[in-house]
Amino acid sequence: MSDFVIVNEVGPRDGLQSQGKTLSIQERLTMIDALLAGGIRSIEVGSFVSPKAVPQMAGTSELFSLLPMAGAVAYSALVPNLRGYELAREAGVQSVAVVLSATETMNQRNINMSLEQTATVCAELMQRAREDGIEARAYVAVAFECPFEGLTPPAVVESLAMRMLEAGARKVIVADTIGAANPHAVRQVLERLASRSTAGQLSCHFHDTRGMALANVLAALDCGVREFDSSIGGLGGCPFSPGATGNLATEDLVLMLDAMGLRTGIEPLALVNTVRRVQALTNTPLGGHSFRWLERQSGKRQGVNHV
Ligand code: COA
Ligand code: ZN
Repeated sequence: MSDFVIVNEVGPRDGLQSQGKTLSIQERLTMIDALLAGGIRSIEVGSFVSPKAVPQMAGTSELFSLLPMAGAVAYSALVPNLRGYELAREAGVQSVAVVLSATETMNQRNINMSLEQTATVCAELMQRAREDGIEARAYVAVAFECPFEGLTPPAVVESLAMRMLEAGARKVIVADTIGAANPHAVRQVLERLASRSTAGQLSCHFHDTRGMALANVLAALDCGVREFDSSIGGLGGCPFSPGATGNLATEDLVLMLDAMGLRTGIEPLALVNTVRRVQALTNTPLGGHSFRWLERQSGKRQGVNHV
């Protein structure tokens, strides 16, 4: 099994969409610069959604036109419908992610479509992406629990994930949108999926609402998953999911993987500055469970005396 794990940074999308402060395009670009400087090479840059629904994501087309073309960076964007896909294609986006929620109510609240309509639109969108030579991945949101409908049956997640893979998704991202999963539930869902697909077709997206995100990562690693979403400093939440707090912090994920001897291409201490820069931009206190420790290590390395 590969010892390389892809860390996909979703702070510029999942993190910013729930912030009280709406960042300007220049500030969003500065955030991406800070992520690149921290060694991050896979970034969900934003979403192509209604600016009335999510004003924080307005101007994502312009942002894409300004992105630094640093070598070997995988930029992607979330698209909820065909209009969003067209906008992304026109902006030159090379990789899109569609969102299918596992419950009826969540689809309605999030994108104003029924579950069946959303699944059909996602399939059509991925078909177009294939014709256009654009990579498509599919989120299965509220894969463990829905804030409106309660626990999500693993069989539902399995059937939706298979449907997305059959419709052409290169990967299914199993998303714990409100941070309600636990390692046992993660194993239950991923073992089912891994038996019907390859682990390489799976990615996980955990929120740290109840402090179990890293434990969930470990369970997913045991099932063969080698790609995870995370958000710098734990920035995040979801405006459409009551109770959702920040994503798994990128520095926590990278530090744990590094300590376990898995490779991410990211140096944990390099993220300290990234967290600080994003904190200054968003005006929000940031930092995962390990941040204070990382700060101290980074201070020691730079010869700064801490009292
Ligand atoms: N990007 C930008 N504008 C869009 C759009 C998109 N992807 N899809 C629709 N619109 C515009 C339409 O052009 C229309 O504009 P107008 O009022 O100026 O005529 C307006 O939005 C309403 O269009 P409609 O198709 O009726 O959409 P809706 O009101 O049913 O809303 C979504 C559907 C998907 C656009 C909206 O719910 C949304 O953007 N949700 C975002 C959810 C999200 O980001 N969740 C977090 C990530 S999972
Ligand atoms: Zn999320």
